Amino acid sequence: MTIERQEGAMIADWTDEAICGFENSIVRVRHGLHQRPMFSDEGLARVLDLYPREALGAFTMGEDLEDWGSWRRGGVQGLTGDQLLGAVKDGRLWLNLRHANLHLPEFAELCAEIAEEKELRLGTRILNRDLGLLISSPRARVFFHLDVPLSSLWQVRGEKRIWFYPRREPYVSDAWIERCVLRTAEGQAPYRAEWDADATSFPMRPGDMTTWPQNMPHRVDNGPMLNVSLSMEYMTPRALRRARVLHANGVLRRSLGWSPTVQERPGPGLAAKLAFHAAHKLLNKSSTSPILPESFRVTAEGKRIAA
Ligand SMILES: [Fe+2]
Repeated sequence: MTIERQEGAMIADWTDEAICGFENSIVRVRHGLHQRPMFSDEGLARVLDLYPREALGAFTMGEDLEDWGSWRRGGVQGLTGDQLLGAVKDGRLWLNLRHANLHLPEFAELCAEIAEEKELRLGTRILNRDLGLLISSPRARVFFHLDVPLSSLWQVRGEKRIWFYPRREPYVSDAWIERCVLRTAEGQAPYRAEWDADATSFPMRPGDMTTWPQNMPHRVDNGPMLNVSLSMEYMTPRALRRARVLHANGVLRRSLGWSPTVQERPGPGLAAKLAFHAAHKLLNKSSTSPILPESFRVTAEGKRIAA
């Protein structure tokens, strides 16, 4: 099946402010993806049937935002797409179909379309493209965390509220970001409820897209309905440099006890960090397996039972 190319641009309202703010501030624009039939119940069930089940991230969570221990990974083997969609509608699940662009041709095309739009408007290369489809339950939430690459969130169905926190202490430290880059943490970070007073927060409705500075901590609360969003993670040359410097810094902190800073501008310091990163990567293979063990499984009736 091929997707319908919309008339005109995918983003309706690129402004100078949005273009200048890219990578530096929280940017909000409108898009037209929510009008595409691939995101109907029927379309989603078909995608869930086609997407490799072993690659699908299924999570549940508690209510307490400070309790990352309640964020658990589960198994959804053996369910049809219809059953899985029903389990999300009636349960407390967060499904992440990561790299849908590598597994499904229609998402490969959509990912290329999104990247093409960004490259054209923003004048930068869009690298390491990972287009994920998020299908999540009413009232589900994603706790305070950060992502290593740049991200953009495209709201397609339902409403959610997103909260962004400053990328500095006490909200997050360089040492914590380094842990995420080195994959000794899955992006989760310590959170305190009083930080909400310092957050930038807004609702996301169908047709809203937001993107934010790399590694900026954030969290998400779903409204009382099924939510469908696209999460496009990607690197630009600048973002890739920052991730490599953080990787080098993490190794230096862990092995030598240093407290290194992040070089953002070209110079000998940045060159040395990039060389160190390249040498370290060559000698050490990083793991890509999930950090969380599978601790529950979803039945065909949509119940969660211990794995
Ligand atoms: Fe995120």
